[in-house]
Amino acid sequence: MQQAFRASIFHCLADPGPQAADSAVEYFEDGLLVVENGAFSAIGPAEDLLATLPDDTQVEDLSGKLIVPGLIDCHVHYSQLDIIASYGEQLLDWLHRYAYPEEARFADADHARAVAEFFLDELLRNGTTTALVFATVFPQSVDAIFAAAEKRNMRLIAGKVLMDRMCPDELCDDAESAYADSKALIECWHGKGRLGYAITPRFALTSSEEQLEAAGRLAGEYPDTWVHTHLAENQEEVEQISQQFPWSRSYLDVYDHFGLLRDRAIFAHCLHLDATDRALMAQKGGAGAFCPTSNLFLGSGLFDLRSMTDAGVKVGLATDVGGGTSLSLLRTMSAAYKVLHLQGQSLPASRALYLATLGAAEALDLDSYIGNFAQGKEADFVVLDPDGSTITARRAQAATSIDELLFSLIFLGDDRNIAATYLQGRRMKV
Ligand code: GUN
Ligand code: ZN
Repeated sequence: MQQAFRASIFHCLADPGPQAADSAVEYFEDGLLVVENGAFSAIGPAEDLLATLPDDTQVEDLSGKLIVPGLIDCHVHYSQLDIIASYGEQLLDWLHRYAYPEEARFADADHARAVAEFFLDELLRNGTTTALVFATVFPQSVDAIFAAAEKRNMRLIAGKVLMDRMCPDELCDDAESAYADSKALIECWHGKGRLGYAITPRFALTSSEEQLEAAGRLAGEYPDTWVHTHLAENQEEVEQISQQFPWSRSYLDVYDHFGLLRDRAIFAHCLHLDATDRALMAQKGGAGAFCPTSNLFLGSGLFDLRSMTDAGVKVGLATDVGGGTSLSLLRTMSAAYKVLHLQGQSLPASRALYLATLGAAEALDLDSYIGNFAQGKEADFVVLDPDGSTITARRAQAATSIDELLFSLIFLGDDRNIAATYLQGRRMKV
């Protein structure tokens, strides 16, 4: 089946960098995106491409709108949706006061299923087509999010949270059950359709050495699964890590020691690292998830993108809801701009989009499937509508370039500007 979409089209071919290299992006003001059997088959100027298509091809006219690749959220907790925007604490107190009690509710499979359905609909409403998701310690909460993603044919990675100490009893597993439950979930879900499994120790503070060892064993036994955890988010957390693991050189060293730093390992936050950590992360293939709204909201710190990318570490953008304050990756891009601006670093619109599309796909090692409109990739894309709100419509009228238009949508846009979201060529948000 062939489909074609006519609109302005923008995507990244590589990292535009802080100088917004033109060679890293492709833009067609009056473009055509052709999809065949759920995958991209061609992109180019509408006039040229239309002439090459069979007469009976259905062309959807989206003139006045801007098509970009589906947005990718590299770190988000679906179980924290109902405590988003909870007042007043930094990380460790916030976890105990808000996150842990909320996650305890996911022992109930019906509750987990209901939240999973709402969560994925909300992602699609915001133009997010792929996410790396923390579930909870309860295996049924993992089944719930995978089943909801499978129903939508959404590319999604998730895993059971491993936590066996320094947390409420009702959320505590142990090393043995963590291993056995994760293994069973991997066998059930990993590689099923577009789904992937992430071995998910919450963070080194809530896992015993025995549990980290079990997680590392799994990571070795299933090398094409992902590893997903938190790293160096909060100063107090970092101090407690050095007390709990007195033998370690650094927080990252703890994960590395247990075999959890490898290709497809994604570390949320990465705020308090040194040059040795960054070099090691790059060398071993780990990636960082940049969570700007969360880092500002929890008062955690400022992500140093320049040092990470200079060291060769892959970085993708992430909302980290419920520590993060929005599921919208547009909002998250605008927060990233401000976090970098405070550090004298620039984030042009094209690079912001890269961090939430191709860059995120590279960080997740999914760039052979998603991230841009390269021929053969899965046709996940978003239709941005500058007329979605009165202020974006007005600002778009004044824009004189695609960079200016995109930047204004990043700062002023929200779910009203997501006119449609497509998964493998199928319209999901109407
Ligand atoms: N570190 C350990 N658990 C969490 C969590 O749920 N959210 C955030 N932001 N950081 C964490
Ligand atoms: Zn998180």
